[in-house]
Amino acid sequence: MLKKVLVTGGAGFIGSHVVDRLVLEGYEVRVLDDLSTGKLDNIQRHLSSGKVELVKGDIRDASAVKQSLDGVNFVIHMAALISVPLSVENPDLTFDINLLGTLNLLRSSIKEKVDRFVFVSSCAVCGDPESLPVTEQTRTNPISPYAESKLIGERYCLGFSERQLLNSVVLRFFNVYGPRQGMNDYSGVITRFIERCKQKLPLTIYGDGSQTRDFVNVKDVAEAVLASVKGGKAVGEVFNIGSGKHTSINELAKTIIELAGVNSEISYEKSRSGDIKDSYADISKAKMLLGYEPKVSFRDGLQSLLEEKMVVT
Ligand SMILES: NC(=O)c1ccc[n+]([C@@H]2O[C@H](COP(=O)([O-])OP(=O)(O)OC[C@H]3O[C@@H](n4cnc5c(N)ncnc54)[C@H](O)[C@@H]3O)[C@@H](O)[C@H]2O)c1
Repeated sequence: MLKKVLVTGGAGFIGSHVVDRLVLEGYEVRVLDDLSTGKLDNIQRHLSSGKVELVKGDIRDASAVKQSLDGVNFVIHMAALISVPLSVENPDLTFDINLLGTLNLLRSSIKEKVDRFVFVSSCAVCGDPESLPVTEQTRTNPISPYAESKLIGERYCLGFSERQLLNSVVLRFFNVYGPRQGMNDYSGVITRFIERCKQKLPLTIYGDGSQTRDFVNVKDVAEAVLASVKGGKAVGEVFNIGSGKHTSINELAKTIIELAGVNSEISYEKSRSGDIKDSYADISKAKMLLGYEPKVSFRDGLQSLLEEKMVVT
């Protein structure tokens, strides 16, 4: 019998790639999304072919959640308010969506006897990490309401798993990039740099550009999500999902300029308060227990993104 998966936030940037991968694998897929930042376009071809069903609704709405969970075996919970600045401006809304919404889904998933619940968290739970690379044991230190809401979400999931009420898996994504990506706080810098190259304008870097990030391609992330649904050793565990490599913002800017074949300049401005200096993931646990192996090199990933985004419309 076909297994049915509910993807919350499945019309979003990462969610829609997860949906693509699940459809390819032969799962029946349902998406619960309020389309607040997600786009119908991202999943339209699957909706048209009848391979994916959309429930347009809010994760805080009990009846939308109940309808979405009907007959579902696995839940992949990615719907969230993901903007750090917005979370600082409006912590109440952040906790409402990211915590109460998550709790609503968890409770209903227990009631509906879901086999596995995958919670998408973030490297932001570690804040400015004390040591590198960041492992799953690195001390957590959330520095925004967004990060706090993700950390508490993780604890809910692991708590339910420990009490054997719901088999849960936590994935901490690092800086995910790839097609369909908007201007988010994670890899929005890539979209911004590409836009500036397109307009032949200088690329602005905040700080001296030596700060590093772990940029991971969305296709690799989708593989990790799939593995977390299937993997026998995943339940009750937290996994870092990154590339395991670090790239400085200077390197990023230079690579984009080179691959785009433009001669945009780089300009520097005062660093922004709250910016993390360095971060990259130790992915050995995901490699060992999920068989996760990032395959898309950063250069290849950027090249295909440039091909998509540099097309003048
Ligand atoms: N982009 C990254 O690099 C990154 C890094 C770490 C973690 N994450 C996490 O990955 C997940 C997906 O992020 P993304 O970058 O694809 O962002 P996104 O904004 O494209 O996706 C979020 C999706 O959730 C939906 N949504 C928001 N609030 C909702 C609600 N109340 N009810 C129903 N649907 C709702 C949006 O419409 C959107 O489709 C999020 O949980 C985010 O915290 C992303």
